[in-house]
Amino acid sequence: MLHIIGAGSLGLLWAARLQLGGIACRLILRNSNRQEQWLRNGGILAFNDGATVHTLQLATETPDAPTPIRHLIVATKAYAALPAVESVRHRLQQGAELFLLQNGLGSQQAIADAFPECRVYCISITDGAWRPSEHELTWAGRGHNTIGPLHPATPQPTWLSSLPDSISTSWRTDILPVLWRKLAVNCAINPFTLIYDCRNGDVPERADGWLDQCITELEQLLARQGFDTDLAEQIQAVILATANNSSSTRQDLHARRRTELDYILGYACRAAREADLPTPALDQLLEQARETLQQHQLPAD
Ligand SMILES: NC(=O)c1ccc[n+]([C@@H]2O[C@H](COP(=O)([O-])OP(=O)(O)OC[C@H]3O[C@@H](n4cnc5c(N)ncnc54)[C@H](OP(=O)(O)O)[C@@H]3O)[C@@H](O)[C@H]2O)c1
Repeated sequence: MLHIIGAGSLGLLWAARLQLGGIACRLILRNSNRQEQWLRNGGILAFNDGATVHTLQLATETPDAPTPIRHLIVATKAYAALPAVESVRHRLQQGAELFLLQNGLGSQQAIADAFPECRVYCISITDGAWRPSEHELTWAGRGHNTIGPLHPATPQPTWLSSLPDSISTSWRTDILPVLWRKLAVNCAINPFTLIYDCRNGDVPERADGWLDQCITELEQLLARQGFDTDLAEQIQAVILATANNSSSTRQDLHARRRTELDYILGYACRAAREADLPTPALDQLLEQARETLQQHQLPAD
C-alpha cells in the first residue's frame, strides 16, 4: 500500500495513474474539513490523460487514520512538505520510505534531518499537470520521473519496478546534480517572469544582460557544488521550448498563491553565501522578486 500526502495536481496525478495501474494507494488530505469537501461529489476525480477522461473514485483519509505508513509520496509544495510529513509522524513505520517530489532544494534536507529513521528519496519530475476544478485533473505534459536517494548509500526500493508504464521512471544514485540543474534553470527563468510578469519566451529580451550575468553566476555556483556547469545552452533551449508558457512562479502570482521562490532562488543565494561566492546579479534578482511579491501582498519567501 502506498500513501500520498497532498491531493493537488501532482498528488492526484500519481494517485490516478497508480489506481489505473492496479496499485493500491490512499490519498491523505489535510484534515476532516478537506475530506468532507472532497467527498461532496462522491469523491470522484475526472482524470484527463490527454487521450481519455477516466472517472475514478480515489480512496482518501486524514492524517489521524489508524493504518501505519511504509511508503509515503509527499506531493505538497516545498514550504508545506515538512509540516505535512510531521502530521503523519506517529504513523510512519521504522525505516519508512519518503518520496519527495518538491521543486527546488531545502525542503528535502529539512525532512531528512527531522526524520533520520526514514529513507528519503527525491523525484525530479518533468510531467505537467493542473486542475481545471477541484475534481478534475488534466495531465498536460507527459514527462519523466528521475528518482534517487538523498543520501547515496540508501538502497533502491524494489517495488519501483512494479510501477505502471504510465509512470516513466529512471533511477539515479546521484540525484543531487539533477535537482541542482533543475533549480539553476528555474532560477534563470522563474524570477524574471515574476518581476516582468511575462511569459518564459520574453525573458531574454526583458532581462537582457542581467540574464547572462545570472547564468554566469549559476554556472559558478554549480561548479562550487562540484557539478557540470554548461548551463547557458540548456537554459536557452528551455526558454525556446516553453516560450508560450507561464512559469509556475508566475502562475502562483496570478492565482495569488505563495510561490516556491525561497526554495529556488532563495536556496541558490544562500548556498552561494555559504560558499563565499559573490552573486550580485542573483542577489538583485531575489531582492526584486521579493519586492514584487510584497507589492502583490503575497509572502515574500
Ligand atoms: N503541477 C505540476 O505540473 C508540477 C510539475 C513538476 C513539479 N511540481 C512540483 O510538485 C510540488 C507539488 O505541486 P502541485 O502543483 O501538485 O501543488 P498543488 O496543486 O498546490 O498541491 C499541493 C497540495 O498539497 C496539499 N497540502 C499542503 N499541506 C498539506 C498537509 N499538511 N496535509 C495534506 N495535504 C497538504 C494542498 O492542500 P490544501 O488545499 O489543503 O492546501 C494541495 O492540495 C511542487 O513542489 C511543484 O513545484 C509540480
